[in-house]
Amino acid sequence: MLGLRTIHWSAVSTSSSDYATTIMASSSVVMAYTLYALFCICTLQKMALAQDQPASLHLTYYVHEIRYGPNATLLAAAGTGQGNFSAAGWGTFSVFENALKEGPTADSKLVANITGTGVITTIGGLPSGGIQISAEHIFNEASGYNDSSLTITGTLSSPRGPPWECIVPGGTGYFRGYRGYVLAEPYAATTVPPLFVDKWDIYISK
Ligand SMILES: *[C@@H]1O[C@H](CO)[C@@H](O)[C@H](O)[C@H]1NC(C)=O
Ligand SMILES: *[C@@H]1O[C@H](CO)[C@@H](O)[C@H](O)[C@H]1NC(C)=O
Ligand SMILES: *[C@@H]1O[C@H](CO)[C@@H](O)[C@H](O)[C@H]1NC(C)=O
Ligand SMILES: *[C@@H]1O[C@H](CO)[C@@H](O)[C@H](O)[C@H]1NC(C)=O
Repeated sequence: MLGLRTIHWSAVSTSSSDYATTIMASSSVVMAYTLYALFCICTLQKMALAQDQPASLHLTYYVHEIRYGPNATLLAAAGTGQGNFSAAGWGTFSVFENALKEGPTADSKLVANITGTGVITTIGGLPSGGIQISAEHIFNEASGYNDSSLTITGTLSSPRGPPWECIVPGGTGYFRGYRGYVLAEPYAATTVPPLFVDKWDIYISK
């Protein structure tokens, strides 16, 4: 902007050609300095971004899910198991709004809300194939990743784990461009039904 304005001003100062030449010469110098300054700012910004955004991240959080009772965060919305998740079977479709916390205890800091769906897709029910989930983790101010999100998809509670490996296809905000995987496993020490706690190790890179 500064460079453009300087050129325009020198173009209208054509009353004295010597004067105009001097002005144009000095405006070239101004423009050169401006371009150089812009170049430096852009380079610094790129360096700052690269420093803020590490190539890879390992985040450890705990999922807190209340499976039944008045404060349930999991709802078997269709199929068997409505009102009693133990009776969930083939075709059970559930929705959840779980808490993602910094630690495994109930009073740990909330860092994100996890909303999503889970479906039991195997004829043999939960014990034979687990539950296929698709969830969005929306981080809050306290997390330091305010309003950024990570999408996680995969199968939990299958006989192929624990740990169960899920996919992180991507994220938004701070997590834009990152992808990777999650290793999830039950955290027995603070699991007191109806509260079920899982430890999630999220590995993402870009
Ligand atoms: C449900 O949550 C409320 C508010 O936090 C609490 O007072 C109540 O004890 C909880 N009920 C159960 C069964 O945990
Ligand atoms: C919940 O379902 C399980 C498994 O089908 C069953 O054993 C249990 O009695 C049910 N509980 C209630 C409160 O209905
Ligand atoms: C989701 O976030 C809101 C706002 O921070 C919070 O009040 C609510 O308890 C969270 N949901 C769960 C299941 O923790
Ligand atoms: C956090 O994100 C919310 C939702 O976009 C926004 O209203 C709030 O101002 C943000 N807080 C900070 C400290 O940026």
